Amino acid sequence: MALQQKGMHGTWASRWTFIMAATGSAVGLGNMWKFPYVAGINGGGAFVLVYLGCILLIGVPVMMSEVLIGRHGRQSPVNSMKETVTDSNANSKWRYVGWIGVLAGLLILSFYAVIAGWALDYILLMSSGELQGVNGSGAGAAFENLLASPLRLILWQTVFLGLCVAVVIGGVKKGLGLAVETLMPLLFVMLIILLGFSFFKGNFQAAFDFLFSFNLDALSWRGVLEAMGQAFFTLSIGMGAIMAYGAYMPQDANIGKTVLIVAFFDSAVAIISGLIIFSIVFATPGLEPSAGPGLMFISLPVAFGSIPGGLLIGATFFILVSIAAWSSAISLLEPCVAWLMELKNLSRAKANLIIIFITWILGLGSVFSFNIWSDYSFMGFNFFDFLDFLTANIMLPISGLFITLFVAYVIKSEIVSFEMQGTSGVILNLWRIAIRFIAPFAISLVFIMGVYDNFVS
Ligand code: PFF
Repeated sequence: MALQQKGMHGTWASRWTFIMAATGSAVGLGNMWKFPYVAGINGGGAFVLVYLGCILLIGVPVMMSEVLIGRHGRQSPVNSMKETVTDSNANSKWRYVGWIGVLAGLLILSFYAVIAGWALDYILLMSSGELQGVNGSGAGAAFENLLASPLRLILWQTVFLGLCVAVVIGGVKKGLGLAVETLMPLLFVMLIILLGFSFFKGNFQAAFDFLFSFNLDALSWRGVLEAMGQAFFTLSIGMGAIMAYGAYMPQDANIGKTVLIVAFFDSAVAIISGLIIFSIVFATPGLEPSAGPGLMFISLPVAFGSIPGGLLIGATFFILVSIAAWSSAISLLEPCVAWLMELKNLSRAKANLIIIFITWILGLGSVFSFNIWSDYSFMGFNFFDFLDFLTANIMLPISGLFITLFVAYVIKSEIVSFEMQGTSGVILNLWRIAIRFIAPFAISLVFIMGVYDNFVS
């Protein structure tokens, strides 16, 4: 067994590019759109506390394990997992874990592109000035208009998927690497500008209290499962993305420290986005923090439309969201593309087109859930909600659990020692305790209780 493999897809230019890429993958619609609305539905503070606990005790250890497997295998998640299983002389069934990841990636990308399309549409809608002075019901109607139009949704879903192909087709260095090095600094600058805006123009204090007043009674087991699902979703773990990016990580980069930096950036962006959105919600009469998926698309136009020149800031916000979604979506596409290239010896371009076509077709199901299929439901979910729940709350935790168990109890210890060189003794020991005892137990408990709460009780 060779401890250091050579991959066919190349490596990032530096550890910093890996940090930008992994942060780009992690920071996305999950932080700016989903985190505020899920926190809003679950009562704010208590949810945030459990969420941050999940990031630290489960998310970070699982992410380190994924990067480790990816960097050892240096291929797509399916084949990195296979390679690591073989090198560890483990039961070959373990390799199926890589499959859940790639499948979850395809499913997530299919609905993710539809929501990202909403943000693209809103860049134009906000800049057109049409929403100047709009009130809550006017903004609600504008949002419903968008959802009611399959053609408009399909147009933006297609544009967004096109943008993803344009990056992934360029490969690791010239496509993904270049994109994240340009987009991420831009994203941080825009986020800080918007934070300043909401601080001076919104009700910042109320937003702060809402996110940080910890009232645990407000939280159900289903809420705890959602907090854990959100931690998986936001860190892009439990599926191929981080494993695929780990496969391109330079050998001398320190896994522990790097992952902690990425988790810190990701949590900071979620909290800052929550502060921005809730400052605006609490400053605008008639808006509720528990408004659900429309929170960002209804509340922001009302708030931005009420101040002169505000719509330009609003358009900036939706550019920010689109960029964040773009840098995440490329990490959903890459694992599938890399796998198809390895499997069929296809060119990057061909593999891209095949995967995008499948994703596009699947995405139509999500498009139609908001209009022509809105009356159909399955187990209480429409197609879109079902995919969202299935991936974030079922598939990601299950695959995260198996990845953790594999790295904790099955993988050859030489592989771990080799990949963890450079990670400090304290972090290494904490990580070992987390993956052996805390994460498997916590994931199983939350998963069982959450599913029970949702489907049985
Ligand atoms: N982490 C992304 C977000 O928070 O929007 C979503 C995501 C990207 C999930 C990549 C999973 C993934 F593999």
